[in-house]
Amino acid sequence: MKTRLGILISGTGSNLQSIAAACKNPDYPAEIALVLTNQPEAKGITFAKKNGLATAVLAHQAYETRQTFEQAMHEQLHLAKVDLVCLAGFMRILSPFLVSRWAGRMLNIHPSLLPAFPGLHTHRRALEAGASLHGCSVHQVTEGLDEGPVQGQSTLQVLVNDTETSLQQRVLQLEHQLYPQVIAKTCQQLQQANLGKSAARQNGSN
Ligand code: GRF
Repeated sequence: MKTRLGILISGTGSNLQSIAAACKNPDYPAEIALVLTNQPEAKGITFAKKNGLATAVLAHQAYETRQTFEQAMHEQLHLAKVDLVCLAGFMRILSPFLVSRWAGRMLNIHPSLLPAFPGLHTHRRALEAGASLHGCSVHQVTEGLDEGPVQGQSTLQVLVNDTETSLQQRVLQLEHQLYPQVIAKTCQQLQQANLGKSAARQNGSN
């Protein structure tokens, strides 16, 4: 059985596209069950619709509180029978309300070598700091911003003539390779954990 992914986006959705491409391989352990956005104009939603993926658009401004917005997201993910949530350029900070409900089943991709440069403007900050290595990380989502356990990283050498734009483009290429790989590894871990649980049930143990 394939692991059902819920992909959360707010913008271009190039990572969504790389995950969708990976899911086309029959041997890939996941399928996209839902693409959810808080931005009705997100380009990634157009891609999702054109490619026959299920979508949900929940404009965060329409909700009175962060919790009611997250409750609505949670319901959509639940309705779509999502097993693993993948944040891919989702530009809303998630509160413990949602994060706790998906603990161990929520990943994010971040454009830096965490723990260096959590937050925004990572490429500019890497250049300003004179970093010689830069890259991207996939991590479990926990309550602290970009703080959860790192599940995989890709690294590049910062070149003397790199600019914020060139770094952003080069790191994004790495992201497109890394995220589908880490998702596959996570799906295998979740599938093994589920097999373990059902074996325990069959043996009558807890
Ligand atoms: C990526 O750089 C990702 O690391 C960050 O947001 C950007 C999303 O890009 N979290 P895209 O929408 O997947 O093209």
